[in-house]
Amino acid sequence: MTDRTPFLDLGGQTAELRPALDRLWAEVLDTGRFVGGPLVEQFEREWAAYCETPHAIGVANGTDALVLALRALDVGPGDEVVVPTNTFVATAEAVVLVGAAPRFVDVDPATLLITPEAIAAALTPRTRAVMVVHLYGQMPDMQAILAVTTPAGVAVVEDAAQAHGARWRGRPAGSRGVFGCFSFYPGKNLGAFGDGGAVVCSDDVLADRVRSMRDHGRADGSHYVHTEIGTNSRLDALQAGVLSLKLSRLDGWNARRREVMAAYRTALADTAVQLVEGVPGTVGVHHLAVARSDRRDLIRDELAVRGIATGIHYPVPCHLQVPYLRFADGPLPVAEEAAEQVFSLPMHAHLSDVQVARVCEALQQIAGLAVVGRD
Ligand SMILES: Cc1ncc(COP(=O)(O)O)c(C=O)c1O
Repeated sequence: MTDRTPFLDLGGQTAELRPALDRLWAEVLDTGRFVGGPLVEQFEREWAAYCETPHAIGVANGTDALVLALRALDVGPGDEVVVPTNTFVATAEAVVLVGAAPRFVDVDPATLLITPEAIAAALTPRTRAVMVVHLYGQMPDMQAILAVTTPAGVAVVEDAAQAHGARWRGRPAGSRGVFGCFSFYPGKNLGAFGDGGAVVCSDDVLADRVRSMRDHGRADGSHYVHTEIGTNSRLDALQAGVLSLKLSRLDGWNARRREVMAAYRTALADTAVQLVEGVPGTVGVHHLAVARSDRRDLIRDELAVRGIATGIHYPVPCHLQVPYLRFADGPLPVAEEAAEQVFSLPMHAHLSDVQVARVCEALQQIAGLAVVGRD
């Protein structure tokens, strides 16, 4: 085994499924059905069941999932959509792509997630939807959020791109909002061998609309009759087959992520370096293990010297990204401070016990250095 601990390594999951993947590839080649077809329909059924929603619609990527959800709700020019500024830019991008304005809000200092209070303060007569992002694999208090949005007639779109299998009070990510949107980018908890995404939904009419819009707005059962202006955002058969195979392992892989997170938490207890807090009532799936320190760069350098790779999620909050400055409406101090302090530890389901122990040991040494090094 190498002494390096990469931030992410997909080799383990590919090796675990290799014989089944080889059979799948042969099956796809033999059938010649590369886009849509039985493998896509099978995965859609499985993903709907997993998310406990009646409908799952495979799409080309997570960004399209968000765009199609907003388009199906007729969100567009003149509308506002509340977006937590601490998220991957695609959440805000989808809002701008449908012609609406993102209204950026700050996040909770302990969890770095959107809060019901911030949503309530951001609502205006133009607010049509809220993007509730289950960032890092944790869900915020969905009941408190719905208590704000439902009376206001504002739709909740769950951006669950980082939260496959997370639960809040027993309910899966994606199942409480009008729509739940997923990315199956390879590094996600459930990842394809390329781009992929899905929209889950409980409303039959809205689900049919997304199903049609992802396929050029085709009328049900027709190839050249179009009832909507749609787009091409279909899921490939190969990706759907890969996702079905990996879905059978997802709960086990998420359980391993929770073990790794627990080990990091123990290692960092009583140090000045703190992991983002857990949310009471949430079963997290820890897409990312995000820690904070005002000595971030020192810690990252020391980890790198020990062969341990880290990331930053995210170094620039959305409202400070140049193309989005025109939507910014004053400082959002919690997210701005977090952007200077957060760093992400190696996290994936195939980290070995040796690698986890190595990271924990290094963290204990370095967290001590970070404290000693304080001004
Ligand atoms: C929170 C969040 N939203 C949306 C996306 C967009 O997904 P995709 O890259 O599949 O378009 C991502 C993925 O990177 C994400 O992390």
